[in-house]
Amino acid sequence: MPVENHYICCKAKAMINVLGKEKSLFNRFLMELREVKVQADSLRFRRNLQRLGEIFAYEISKTFTFKSVEVTTPLGTLEMNLPVESPVLATILRAGLPLHQGLLNYFDEADSAFVSAYRKYSKDEKFTIKLDYLSAPSLDGRILIISDPMLATGGSLIASINGLLGNGKPKHIHIVCALASDEGIANVKKKYSLKNMTIWVGAIDAELTAKAYIVPGLGDAGDLAFGVKSDI
Ligand code: PRP
Ligand code: URA
Repeated sequence: MPVENHYICCKAKAMINVLGKEKSLFNRFLMELREVKVQADSLRFRRNLQRLGEIFAYEISKTFTFKSVEVTTPLGTLEMNLPVESPVLATILRAGLPLHQGLLNYFDEADSAFVSAYRKYSKDEKFTIKLDYLSAPSLDGRILIISDPMLATGGSLIASINGLLGNGKPKHIHIVCALASDEGIANVKKKYSLKNMTIWVGAIDAELTAKAYIVPGLGDAGDLAFGVKSDI
């Protein structure tokens, strides 16, 4: 049977998708990331970030273009709808690594991009975002998925997206965060037209501390995943 050139393109339901609002297993993984008694186990913390990454990947894949492809089994042939695009998965070092791995577990043919962005604090506890390293393929016409567990002020994410856009113009950008703050979301919305952008988060918390930590949040995602870092 000839393969039909049948494209189905599903669009994301909304520009901001909060997966924790749905009643699903996702919430158990997010609870374990937040709960102090569980999050101290760094292996489990990293694995839960991966599990969220896998669920985000599954949900994002529903927005891709699909094409009918002929599949041959030992007993016959059939048509199946498969995604056409292979995205670029970008992440922000270091806390982004486990979430990135989760996305990569599902989008296993994706290319990867890495940005090193971190908060450089001054004595008055104010900070600027330092971008030290960026490695990415050409992003022209690609679907870019950028992941970071925490979107607090949005400074790291905005600096990283601006850096990545130096490598080309993606056709769509998906932002993936375990937790975001109202302020972080507002800053991203202020900076970019959300026309070609979709935000995927586990939950949006209302507050930031004086040091711009999300409340109730989960604490320092990088330290919980990889150990406490000393001040730079
Ligand atoms: C964390 C987190 C984000 C950033 C969020 O990284 O992973 O990148 O803070 O804060 P923002 O929205 O206010 O920029 P951090 O700078 O702690 O670095 P780390 O991953 O090395 O721990
Ligand atoms: N970075 C984190 O790891 N946690 C926050 O709450 C804010 C920034």
